[in-house]
Amino acid sequence: MPNKYTIGEEKDYPNGSITPLEIAGQDYVVVRAEDGSLSVLRDECSHLQLPICEGHVTENRLVCPWHGASFDISTGAALTLPADEPIPCLRHELTDGKLIVHLEE
Ligand code: FES
Repeated sequence: MPNKYTIGEEKDYPNGSITPLEIAGQDYVVVRAEDGSLSVLRDECSHLQLPICEGHVTENRLVCPWHGASFDISTGAALTLPADEPIPCLRHELTDGKLIVHLEE
């Protein structure tokens, strides 16, 4: 199984957007902060393991739609309760405008 996946181009993900997608059978979200920084996180809030894809972006935070926990978009770190654990974050790179993620073996 490859561990690098091209998941579109940088321009496919506008600032302030949350885009759900499946990579190797797992659900993820591409999250783009309002400053243009981008991250790929598991689509699962660390509070009750519910999907976070219907949440929203505020500056550099991803906010869960269920109980309002927020996470640092760049690192997945929990910033506010009720979550106190991070959301796993995939390593990614932008090469020639393409967004490539690395799954750990
Ligand atoms: S499931 Fe996300 S804050 Fe509760």
